[in-house]
Formats: sequence, C-alpha cells, structure tokens
Amino acid sequence: MSDTFSPISVKDALRSSAPIARILVQGWVRTRRDAKDFSFIELNDGSCLRNLQIIAKNLLANYAEVQRLTTGASIIVEGELVASQGKGQSWEVVAEKIDIVGLADDSYPLQKKGHTPEFLREIAHLRPRSNLFGCVFRVRSRLAFAIHKFFQERGFVYVHTPIITGSDCEGAGELFRVTAIDAKNPPRTKNGEIDYTKDFFARQTYLTVSGQLEVEAFALSLSKVYTFGPTFRAENSNTSRHANEFWMIEPEMAFCDLNGNMDLAEEIVKYLIVDLRENCPEELGLFAKFVDKELLARLDFVVERAFQRVSYIEAIELLKKSGERFEFPVEYGLNLQSEHERWLTERHFKCPVTVFNYPKEIKPFYMRLNDDNKTVTAMDLLVPGIGEIVGGSQREERLEVLETNMRRHKMDPADYKWYLDLRRYGTVPHSGFGLGFERMLMFLTGVSNIRDVIPFARTPGSAEF
Ligand code: 4AD
Ligand code: MG
Repeated sequence: MSDTFSPISVKDALRSSAPIARILVQGWVRTRRDAKDFSFIELNDGSCLRNLQIIAKNLLANYAEVQRLTTGASIIVEGELVASQGKGQSWEVVAEKIDIVGLADDSYPLQKKGHTPEFLREIAHLRPRSNLFGCVFRVRSRLAFAIHKFFQERGFVYVHTPIITGSDCEGAGELFRVTAIDAKNPPRTKNGEIDYTKDFFARQTYLTVSGQLEVEAFALSLSKVYTFGPTFRAENSNTSRHANEFWMIEPEMAFCDLNGNMDLAEEIVKYLIVDLRENCPEELGLFAKFVDKELLARLDFVVERAFQRVSYIEAIELLKKSGERFEFPVEYGLNLQSEHERWLTERHFKCPVTVFNYPKEIKPFYMRLNDDNKTVTAMDLLVPGIGEIVGGSQREERLEVLETNMRRHKMDPADYKWYLDLRRYGTVPHSGFGLGFERMLMFLTGVSNIRDVIPFARTPGSAEF
C-alpha cells in the first residue's frame, strides 16, 4: 500500500481552505454531462448533501468508458482540487485518473426526477443515496449522538437494559414472543398447554417494550441514569407515527418528582433542537425547502417558548368547550386521541404542552397514585404536528400501594419480586420518561411518516430487508 494515499470525503474536500495538488475522492455518480472536450461528473459520497464536481478531460486514458458512466456508478478519482469556475460551488476536482469501480445500468431506480416516498420505501436499500434520505439519516446519527451528549454532560449514567425480557412493562400485552420451542412439536403441560418452562430461558420471554423497569433498578443505585435502545411493540396500528420496532430514550432519576421530570423533558427537547440547528444546518435547510416550509420557524419558536402544562382534567374541559367536532369522543376516563392532542398543541396552545395527572384506569401499574385516589402522576408531552412525543411519570415508591395497583391491573406481585425489592430496600421517590426517538426525528425534520425516518422500518405486514 506504499503508493496509495488516503482518500478524503467530499465534505472535507468542499470545505478545504486551499487548493490541494493531489487528492483522492471516491463515491457514486449523481449525474454526468458532456461538454466539448470533457465531461462533468457530480460525485456524492454521503458525507454531506452537496456533490463534488469532477472535471474529466478527454485526455484520460479511459475517457470513452468515463463517457458511458451513468447515475449510480461508483468511482475513485485522483486529481487536483482547484477553485471552481462554476456558480454555487467553491471547489472542483480536475481528474488525472478515474477508476471505475462498479457500473450501474439504466435499471438503477434513483434517477434524477423526484420520486414519491412510497416508491422510495420499496427501495429502502438504495434510498439513502437520495438527497432527502441522506439528510434524514445523517440527522438521525447526529440526534443519537446529541442525546448521549445531553445526558453525559449532566452526569447521567448510560445503562444497557435487556432486549429480551420476561415482563410487560406497559401492561398492554403488545409483546413479541421470543422462543426456541419447536413450533411443530412443542413440549406440553398436563393440561395440553405449551410448557414454557421447557423453553430456552425456562420461562416465557419477549422483546422488550420499554427498558423502564430495569432502568429503575439502576436509578435506585446510581441516581441519574438513562437507557437508549430499540423497543418492540406488537401493536397493529398502521399509522404514520407507529412502528413495531423503534428506539426510545428513557431517563430515570432518583429523588425526583413529576415537576423535575417535566422540566427534564422540556430541557432535552429544546437542547436537541439547538444542537441540530447548530450541527446540521444543510440538512435542516433541505427539509425547510422541500418537506416543511414552516420547519425552522416552528423549531425556533419551540426553543424560545416555555411549554404549557395542563392537567388531564383541564385538557378534557378545553376539548369539550372547543366546539370542535372530533371523530373520537372526549370524556373523562378516556384516552386522548391523536386528534385531541393535536388540537391542544396546534390549535389551542400553539406550542408544546405537557398534560399530567391522568385517570389511573388508563395508565400502567407503576405510576404513582395521587392523593385524590383517582389520578396518577403521568405526563405526556405533546408537540405540534406529531402529538405525543414523551410519555412518563413519577413512579409508585410505596410498596403496599404498588402491590394494590398491580392486583388492580391483574398482575401477580410474586412475578415482580425483584421490582418490589426496590421498594423494600431504601425506596425513594423517583421519576422518568420515554422519548420516542423516531417521533423526535419526525418533529425535527418535518418528515410526516415514521417509515421515512427509520433505515428499514418494521410495520404491520412489512419486514422486508
Ligand atoms: O408512552 P410510552 O408507551 O411510555 C413508556 O414506554 C414508558 N415505559 C416510558 C418511561 O416512562 N420510561 O412510550 C414512550 C414514547 C411515546 O411517547 C412515543 O414517543 C414513543 O415512545 N412510542 C412510539 N414511537 C413509535 N412507534 C410506536 N409504536 C411507539 N409507541 C411509543
Ligand atoms: Mg404513551
């Protein structure tokens, strides 16, 4: 490898501060067009939105082959980085050598004309080569980094909670079973039911719906913790905001009540917007141009304004008084539907809203019971355009109350001995929430379908790739 020198990314080439006599760049041809004695190639390597223009002169040994290059082909270019004559670009490369690495023929599906999101979903393996999806997935990467940065700067410890688990944290029964049992010949109990004690883990196991229960154990040892990983829900909701595999950010804090929890949710949402505004200007610019014209104004507005906070009862009253005709009923004791959430944040408050203190009947077993005996310390943060982006609560730290809650939810406290131990030994008030990573990404990009912010989405009836 003595004769080779390191390639540089298109991004680094474009932000060079001076010409470079010898440069190596590599990537995929976006477009190529011929002039009299040379050919212009627009090269993209995914390091940034912009292309690097390559000038291929007819003096190149393989010029005839270069002239046959089409969109999608991969090449390695050696040449000189010089100031560009053309408009809108600072640098271009005059090629001394072009290695054709991989050809692409006319069947390459990403041609210059715009494609619909539906079509691009069918070619999820190629769509990151488009401008829009290149931007989406670079932003996704930065967002994950910014999330860790936020927590690490604040002294939170990152905990890797298990992906395979025996508990249904949300109690909604939306679990994907994990089993090694032979489906054709399962072991049976005396009653003829499948005997899961003979399964791989000697019990029933599932893909996790949330890392919360496990991360609570770490909050009650390390004080401020978070988990950030994939979660799975076997819910059959074919909407633009639900996926069956999505990532969730779940902080959990000891000695923290609902107000501290709401403060943290507000702080992180604002922090992430500011981080992306600073670090992904090109990408956000593209979204603002092609996806959602209001995007930047909305993001800046959200950073500047304090979020509204209303109790569930207040929210129900506002919705009832709204005079709006909703598809789903508005009644104390019923869940807020997406249309209600969106009315609150988009039409009424016109800013993010945290709704807190929901009726205990519609929330999971672990939420702390309020003194009214009717509501629990739940909180949902709703944002314009999306609705619920965060769900969380103060946790029930009183052993007896928690056991009663469990029985009310038809759960057997004996199955959760380890979780109850956290209340037996040095229990403290504690709180946390789950921020949907993809929902946050939708909010930050203006992309309106969750399928378009996930590299390879898993939704009902669809797990290709
Ligand atoms: O409100 P959820 O169900 O809360 C929990 O799972 C708690 N255990 C979190 C906690 O307190 N540690 O989910 C949290 C967030 C939602 O607000 C939403 O943003 C996202 O996760 N979410 C989904 N995102 C995409 N597809 C789905 N099917 C989602 N379900 C929830
Ligand atoms: Mg929720």
